[in-house]
Amino acid sequence: MHVIASAPGKAILFGEHAVIYGKPAIAVAIDKKARVKIRQRMDSKTHVEVHGLGISEYLELENDVVQEKDNNKGILDYISKSLEKVNQLSELKKQNGLDIIVDLEIPIGSGLGSSAAITVATITALSFYNKLELKKDEIANYAHQVELNVQGAASPIDTTLSTYGGVIYLSRNSEEITHLPLNWNPSLIIGYTERESNTGKLVESVRIKKKSYPSIINPILDSIEQVTETAREAIICENAEILGELMNINHGLLDALGVNTPELSRMVYLARKSGAIGSKITGAGGGGSIIAYSPNKIKEVLRELQRVENAFIIKLSSLGVQMEVGRT
Ligand code: MEV
Repeated sequence: MHVIASAPGKAILFGEHAVIYGKPAIAVAIDKKARVKIRQRMDSKTHVEVHGLGISEYLELENDVVQEKDNNKGILDYISKSLEKVNQLSELKKQNGLDIIVDLEIPIGSGLGSSAAITVATITALSFYNKLELKKDEIANYAHQVELNVQGAASPIDTTLSTYGGVIYLSRNSEEITHLPLNWNPSLIIGYTERESNTGKLVESVRIKKKSYPSIINPILDSIEQVTETAREAIICENAEILGELMNINHGLLDALGVNTPELSRMVYLARKSGAIGSKITGAGGGGSIIAYSPNKIKEVLRELQRVENAFIIKLSSLGVQMEVGRT
């Protein structure tokens, strides 16, 4: 038997970094997914394969805990910790090993939630395989714990989007999730650089700045909160002009936090020059992606961004994590 779970990536519209400090955020699930297949093996080993990235490795398990290896980095960390989490929850004694096979449509390190999508899909597939009937809020919660464990600091925004899909407003201190209207297609474009973003390092750099200059950085985080709250109203009232302007303001505030790069800046301004009414870094920054909002000139903005970096139009995904069951 095999089981397959797929979970969408995400793009943050408002509030990245500030969300780490309990501020609200707004993000959308995108039509690019991580797909994780779990298959029983004839031996007792656990093997992970990530198609397209050349990863093919055995995980060493002792008492259901994955033994750290020097090369056990990146994607493998999220998968190992997800396996550990499900092993802790499962009372079934496992006789056989597992093949864990990952297919990824989301560019890695692009700020588009590849690690959250892999984590949510892995936990969902493993829990289904182990006959644990986890509810969506449990999946989101365990996936967030895995992200915290691997990254050191993480808000629940990425794992929430990968679990539930749609357009989500995460309230102050992540107390409440509200689904916002989904009528944005097709007006959002992603531009991403080859330079990977390291969320853990970027989050840490903002933490150090906040500690060094609290009287400067705290008001910036408060301003991002106000931008997000105003954007929520603008989304509900479908006020495109205000939304675009708020994205531009949010970009300036992220720049002030020190997470911009020359490549991201170039794309942000090129998008505006070619017709986007709003454009900003999306995700952690320091590499990764920008998002441009262009209800009227989508093709022009896409063409210009593709001249300098990778770019694609995103379709929003109303679906969160999904299961498939099959036989091999
Ligand atoms: C990463 O997609 C968004 C950050 O705010 C980190 C997080 O929320 O965990 C930078």
